[in-house]
Amino acid sequence: NSILSIIRGSTQIIEANPDNPDKIRTRLSRIKSMVEQGSTLVKAMLGFSRADDAALLLPDVNAVVTETVPLLGDRLPPEVTVTVDVKEGLPVVHGSRELLQQILINLVLNALDAMEGRGQLTLRCQRLHRLPGNQILPAARAEEYVAVIVEDTGCGISPENLSRIFEPFFTTKAFSTRHGTGLGLSMVYEFCKELGYGLNVRSELRRGTAFTIIIPVLNDQPPAG
Ligand SMILES: Nc1ncnc2c1ncn2[C@@H]1O[C@H](COP(=O)(O)OP(=O)(O)O)[C@@H](O)[C@H]1O
Ligand SMILES: [Mg+2]
Repeated sequence: NSILSIIRGSTQIIEANPDNPDKIRTRLSRIKSMVEQGSTLVKAMLGFSRADDAALLLPDVNAVVTETVPLLGDRLPPEVTVTVDVKEGLPVVHGSRELLQQILINLVLNALDAMEGRGQLTLRCQRLHRLPGNQILPAARAEEYVAVIVEDTGCGISPENLSRIFEPFFTTKAFSTRHGTGLGLSMVYEFCKELGYGLNVRSELRRGTAFTIIIPVLNDQPPAG
């Protein structure tokens, strides 16, 4: 789990720097905010199967996407360039801030693994007027969609593996130093399914990978503010 891995990383840094109060303070505050996020997440997971549609509003997709990058802290290698490309004035969509944040963190951590310390990571939001034909997970029907795209210039995924990446415990990192659990994408899949989001993947070996989250736009837009 990405929250846990950020907490684990922070405790390691604290352990390695017993004489550096500044480092310890920053890490402690990161741990606190992750614990906070974890408890909100659990609440969201427990609550949202019962929640009615009106409670599942996500007024600002841009903000969730923009906030993802600072959450990564120093898991972001210096030679990875990050571009965040949001569109102003996106419509209100169905969703849960916490779950979308978790989906994005999982996709971004995978992208970073795939780039092995060097490359271009792009997070993009855009309106989608037509659904792509080949969704891996079909989005709930709506008049319009917002797409959030996480794109990397990493190792890519072979066609054999592409059909398996969303299976629980499927990982190609079992023997690497990164010790994959193979649970990241199955969590992404389950969250998207619960939320009525669609998923798409495009990948080319040695060139990179793009995951697209397809978020249905609410039919009746509530008034702004
Ligand atoms: N952006 C990506 N680029 C290349 N391969 C990826 C990417 N995202 C996922 N994968 C592949 O999908 C597998 C499953 O991902 P995931 O469920 O997050 O498990 P883990 O990251 O623990 O291995 C990874 O082991 C990797 O082979
Ligand atoms: Mg992963």
